[in-house]
Parts: sequence; C-alpha cells; structure tokens
Amino acid sequence: MEFSKGFKWGVSTSAYQIEGAALEDGKGLSIWDMKCRQPGLVFENQTGEITCDHYHRYKEDVKIMKDLGIQVYRMSISWPRVLPQGVGEINPKGVDFYNRLIDELLKHNIEPFITMFHWDYPQKLYEKGGWLNPDSSNWFAEYVRVLMDNYSDRVKNWITLNEPQAFVRWGHYELNDASGIKPAFSETLLAAHNVLLSHGKAVQTVRQYSKQDAIVGYAPVGDLYVPYDEDVATDVEAAKKETFSIKPLTVFNSIWWMDPIFNGNYPEEGRKLYGEDMPEYSDEDMKIISSPIDYLGLNMYSAKHVSQDKDGNVIEMPREPGHFYTHMDSPTEPKVLYWGSKWFYDRYKKPIIITENGMPNMDCVSADGCVHDPQRIEFLRRYLTSLKKACKEGVDVRGYFQWSFMDNFEWSHGFSKRFGLVYVDYTTRQRIIKDSGYWYKDVIRTNGKIL
Ligand code: BGC
Repeated sequence: MEFSKGFKWGVSTSAYQIEGAALEDGKGLSIWDMKCRQPGLVFENQTGEITCDHYHRYKEDVKIMKDLGIQVYRMSISWPRVLPQGVGEINPKGVDFYNRLIDELLKHNIEPFITMFHWDYPQKLYEKGGWLNPDSSNWFAEYVRVLMDNYSDRVKNWITLNEPQAFVRWGHYELNDASGIKPAFSETLLAAHNVLLSHGKAVQTVRQYSKQDAIVGYAPVGDLYVPYDEDVATDVEAAKKETFSIKPLTVFNSIWWMDPIFNGNYPEEGRKLYGEDMPEYSDEDMKIISSPIDYLGLNMYSAKHVSQDKDGNVIEMPREPGHFYTHMDSPTEPKVLYWGSKWFYDRYKKPIIITENGMPNMDCVSADGCVHDPQRIEFLRRYLTSLKKACKEGVDVRGYFQWSFMDNFEWSHGFSKRFGLVYVDYTTRQRIIKDSGYWYKDVIRTNGKIL
C-alpha cells in the first residue's frame, strides 16, 4: 500500500541550528547566541555561530534536497535576522536572505513550510521580559506581519510556533535552556498563556495579510504514552488517559497547548489542579487563541509505554534488556506515530502532519567515503510503517517531515548528536548524503510503497 495521493514527504530544519552567520549582515542577537557565550552551558562550549553555514551554502543544500526528491521543506526564519531588535526596524539583508532561499526552493519545485518561531528569541525582547511581558503577543504579531508583507506572495504554508512546551518549560521553568530564568510556576503559566495568545494573533495576522489563501498550522510536542501491549484494552485505555493528562507543576503535556486552540478553553482538569497559579485571562483571549487553523502538526520521537495494574493504576513498564535506544538515550517507540496520530485526530478532528520525527545517531565517514547509518534506516522504516497503519485506518495524515535534513547544532548537545539524512563535516562543511538519505529518496519515489 502507498500513502494517500498528495501525501507530502519532507525534511525539517531550524534557522539557529543550520544557518550560522550569527553576527553577519545586520542580524540581531538571539537568546541562543547569548547562551552559547556562557561557558559550560553547551556541550564543549560549541556555538551555532557557523554551524552548517547554510546561510552561505543554501544553494548547495537545496540542490541536495532536489536530488533526494524532497517535496516539502520545513525551515524556520530567524526573528532577529529579520527584525534585529525584535520589533521596529527591519533588516533588509536578513529579509533578502529568505527571499533568495524561498526563490531557490521554488525554482527546484520544493514547497516551503515556514516555521515562524523555532526558539531563537530576540535578545532585545528577552531583556524586556520575553514571553512574560504583556506586549509579547503584539511583538510576535508585528513580526508575523513582516513575514506576510515580504514572503506570503510565494509562501502558502506557515507554522506559528515550534514546541512551545519545550521553550516554555526549559526556557522559563526548569532553567536548563536558553533564557536561563527560573520563575514561579504561576509565571510559567502566564508565559504559556502569552505564547498561546501569540499563536492566535499570528494566525489572525496571516489570515488578514497573506497575499494568498494561506495554510496555517502549529507544531507542539508533548509527553506521550503508548500501550505496552496493543492487544490489551486496558493498556490502550491507560496510555490514552496518560497522553491526555495534566500533571502538577509542569506544562510539558499536550492538551494544555491544544485544547485552548481547538476547543477554546484550557482543560478543566488543569484549571482545577493549577488553581491559584492560573493567569487571569478574558473570553476575548480565548477567542483569539482558538482562531481556526488548518491542521495539527505533531513532533513525535518517543513515548513511555504503560499498562494498568489490578487496581486500575497506570504503570510505566520497563524496557526489555537490549532495547533499541537512540544516541540521546531515549527508547525508540514506533507505535507513537500510530497512536499519537490516531488519538489527536479523534480528539480534535483536524488533519495531522508529522512535523518532526527522526533519530540521533553516532554517524561517521567510513573508509569508502560514505556514511552508513543502518540504524536510522531501521528507525525510520519502523516509524513510517506505524504511521502507514494509522493512515490505513482512516486517520487523515497529510504529510511527514523527517528531522533533520542535515546534521546540525543540537542545542545544549552542540554537535555531539547527528540527526541528519545528510552528514556535515564541521571542519570543511562538506556534505555527504548518508545511506538513509538514499533510502528516504526511495520511500518518497514510491510514496511509501517500499516500507
Ligand atoms: C526540536 C528540534 C531538535 C529536535 C531533536 C525537537 O525537539 O524541535 O529543534 O533538534 O527535537 O532533539
């Protein structure tokens, strides 16, 4: 069986992770530029200052995408490259870079899917309180307007935010990511609210100012669970319940970030649990947040597998010895693409796009000059087979973006984790297509038939 006609096969990246040119052509500083300057925060004090040097090598990269048959490319725009202060004056050279990149993609028949914000927050706005500032959603809307004015004649597909759970959790609560502040939980909920509001205002800005009918989505992540034994009804029930659960003192879950958008309110269970920590918000806020979007993007990598004990308590099951773990010590869990797509589709009735999925590995160049990565091929084969099962059962999945097109700067892990279909030598910046890249090309060519 093939995937549906029109199913989109893509790859994903983000600006800070691949572009480099961090201090060139008038770009403003982002919180990640700042974080990388603090000794000890990133693996071996590495930085994204040059990384893959995509800023200068984008033509070569687009050509590789073309050679691999990539149909859609999920990239992000660096907010401070376009607006160095976050708001106000526009940087023409920054705007021009993305114009050239978009044109290059279109010339090769590759459709851009643009993520407006993938973590590289403008330092100037961070100094004004970032997402905690009551104006933060207006700042974001101003930036989105600049994107509409400059790119929406050629770009139809927009993704507002990448993984708000991650940048709010680590950026605002648990301290080990770029913004480096540790506020009270009530402030984390406030930041989360402002982020949701920013999403809503972004959607409204796209609808109002896009020069063509736009397709808008959103790419959250979440704490995911799958049944330990898929044939045991109580395991399925337990995993579904946990996937839609809200836990104390953390916003790292799925529905806190989805119910407001699709159902117009925070989940009741969470409102009760968080009680006095909840921010004040108006009906108007919820209206903005729930501005209709066209699909739900899901970034899915791993999941916990759970069962139920005889008293009906959900229990996390241990992995069998020798389980296939990735280089980031997370267990591979292909079932997540099946259950995740299915449950979120059932709950929100919106088409699904897998906006990220992929595997960190210890890839290296062999004596024959090639990069052999059979583990990644096996990882992708298992996950895509599981996604195919969801499609076969009627879940409306419209596309899949592999993370990542090429090896890149993996945030706090620096360059120590390789996720790419294309290997990058960080000394020479040479690109080498890995075995998995050629394999993915065949998947695309056959629309998934070879799986
Ligand atoms: C992020 C990417 C990251 C990837 C692998 C996602 O959480 O969106 O930026 O590189 O996972 O860790």
